[in-house]
Amino acid sequence: MEFDRVIGTRRSIRAYKAGMAVSRETVEEILRVAAQAPSWKNSQTARTYVVMEEPMLSKVRETCLPEFNQRNCRNASALLVTTFVKGISGCDNEGNPANELGDQWGAYDLGIHNAFLVLKARDLGLDTLIMGIRDGEKLRELLSIPQQEQVAAVIALGYRDADPQMPGRKELSETAEFL
Ligand SMILES: Cc1cc2nc3c(=O)[nH]c(=O)nc-3n(C[C@H](O)[C@H](O)[C@H](O)COP(=O)(O)O)c2cc1C
Repeated sequence: MEFDRVIGTRRSIRAYKAGMAVSRETVEEILRVAAQAPSWKNSQTARTYVVMEEPMLSKVRETCLPEFNQRNCRNASALLVTTFVKGISGCDNEGNPANELGDQWGAYDLGIHNAFLVLKARDLGLDTLIMGIRDGEKLRELLSIPQQEQVAAVIALGYRDADPQMPGRKELSETAEFL
């Protein structure tokens, strides 16, 4: 798909078609593109737990998401639980913060990684919803996520069953300054 079309048609999708499986190969293709994202000293601390089989899919949805997000991702083909390894990105070789943002650079790197991920999904005709409102501790427990990883977003992946309008964006004059 043409780049502008990928950007223009990506939306946060909160209604997915039922019974639409996504293959492991497709998820791998998406994750390989996400892995091409830049990261602090190429530290590549983003991690993804791919949940695409029942009963785990329902379990993650029902125990780790609030009701409104459960509804938002009902019928999604997969849930991608994203984390980053703490104490590496934004840190020096001894694990000390390199500057005032410290470990937040890990979240920054994961955000870029996941931006690549959602755009590649769209390129392949798939849709996504990034969900930051989730229960991180329940996800950790259910998926045995190690303590050295910070749990971040759950990303629903599937085929859209609605075509929402783009929510308004701020004017460039409000968000950018040319000096
Ligand atoms: C870090 C992050 C967390 C988000 N968390 C949620 C969420 O928990 N539930 C939800 O419905 N949407 C969530 N969203 C989606 C945003 O609401 C959405 O991106 C925004 O309204 C712009 O719409 P668009 O993605 O269609 O352009 C999240 C987006 C981001 C980037």
